[in-house]
Amino acid sequence: MRVYSGIQPTGRKHLGNYLGAIRHYVTGQEQAWATGDEAIFCVVDLHATTVAYDPAELRDRTYDTVAILLAAGLDPAKSILYRQGDVPEVPELTWLLTSVTAHGDLNRMHQFKEKSAQQRELVSAGLFLYPVLMAADVLAFRADRVPVGDDQRQHIELMRDIAERFNTRFGGEGREILRVPEGVYPTVAARIMDLQQPEKKMSTSSGSIEGTVYVLDEPKAVEKKLKRAVTDSANPPEIRRGPDKAGVSNLIDILAATTDRTPDEVEADLAGARGYGDLKVAAADAVNALLAPIRERYADLRGDEAAIESALAIGAEKARAIAAPVLAEAREAMGVGPRA
Ligand code: TYM
Repeated sequence: MRVYSGIQPTGRKHLGNYLGAIRHYVTGQEQAWATGDEAIFCVVDLHATTVAYDPAELRDRTYDTVAILLAAGLDPAKSILYRQGDVPEVPELTWLLTSVTAHGDLNRMHQFKEKSAQQRELVSAGLFLYPVLMAADVLAFRADRVPVGDDQRQHIELMRDIAERFNTRFGGEGREILRVPEGVYPTVAARIMDLQQPEKKMSTSSGSIEGTVYVLDEPKAVEKKLKRAVTDSANPPEIRRGPDKAGVSNLIDILAATTDRTPDEVEADLAGARGYGDLKVAAADAVNALLAPIRERYADLRGDEAAIESALAIGAEKARAIAAPVLAEAREAMGVGPRA
């Protein structure tokens, strides 16, 4: 059961990234380790070039992201951690996959619609092809399970279609050249919302700074952001989830995910609370308890860029050893290059 996921080195990683994805990478790593399988994680620097970005900063943001992943518990002795740009088999496979990707499907991607609307100078072809590069990330490794947050569902469905179409078109006689992967979504906190605009997801590119809790925020900042979270004016206040209670539902989800309870249990435990203040304080304390050790380890790890580079070099070597034969098989099946 091979586990695979990717994360962008853009902006600062936030609580949504952590609760929706990063902590599940660590669980995936431990499960794969226990069963002798592989867990593979990628910092996707090539994806980061699809929107306006500063080349002088990209490497640093990649190191920031690697240091967060290591601080959160990824262990290069147990899993493969690599930088996308170090594995040229992936962009090559991307090109091969474009032949079985429908232009119309790419046009329908929510993320493309949102991000293209945010670009001021150029909507790059790379932004349009983003989901094909993401498909190549996973398919190059014949991964079975892909832990991601809820916002990646559409991309995962597309990569499944691409793999199936590739196998049908080039596999012949039911041969599975590419594995059709499954998305794995958290049962709680699959979509953490912005604390100030709880109808929008927490996000580095479109949310508000006050409504976004960053993994590296100081405890005081975390507390302030959670205490100021938008709730509602129900009188008396009601600590329950509901479609008309986006802010309170989000806080319940955050508290549930950070204290390993279900949202129902949180609601029951807070049934006697007098107002939303208790919910906010409990959420702030729980988030800080979870993030404090990560912040401390991050500070130690981030300073040693040489150590990060050597960990990435080892990861890239292992990643290429897996991706190269898959690419060779795809090329052979498509009739590209000399006969194998
Ligand atoms: P990225 O870098 O935007 O986000 C990393 C992970 O965090 C999850 N996430 C959230 N989960 C819950 N609530 C939120 N508000 C929230 N915001 C983000 C995302 O679902 C994601 O799992 N396209 C991917 C990167 C990628 C990838 C891949 C993922 C590239 N190649 C291959 C899996 C497999 C992305 O933009 O993630």
